Amino acid sequence: MESDVDAAEDRRIVPVADVPDRGTFRFEAVADGRRIEGVLLRDDGVVAYRNSCPHEPDVKLDRGLGALIDGDQLVCHEHGARFDCDDGYCTRGPPRGRTLDPIDVVVRDGAVYLTDDRFESARRLD
Ligand code: FES
Repeated sequence: MESDVDAAEDRRIVPVADVPDRGTFRFEAVADGRRIEGVLLRDDGVVAYRNSCPHEPDVKLDRGLGALIDGDQLVCHEHGARFDCDDGYCTRGPPRGRTLDPIDVVVRDGAVYLTDDRFESARRLD
């Protein structure tokens, strides 16, 4: 049986200091053996979104090394759509008016933890 400590470690993604100020940090979350990729970014703490553009969901927001952050917006590399970092709302580009899929995380004791009930574990990719 998994202890609370083990369960917490399964949900620990990365030290918060590793999340860049101007960029994103990739991670993977697992639900029922299915893996999805997410990105962490700073915004009054740390927020997370699925690494998938609402314009073309098979397209990741980045080229594999983290997405570009310009001011308070994340920029999709493919067609330049811009999303507000704080809520994922697209203000410019083909998916204008749509939002990124948020993933719940929390900063605790200097680390970022997955709190989204859809997933049972997470791990860093970068
Ligand atoms: S795939 Fe992201 S803007 Fe087109």
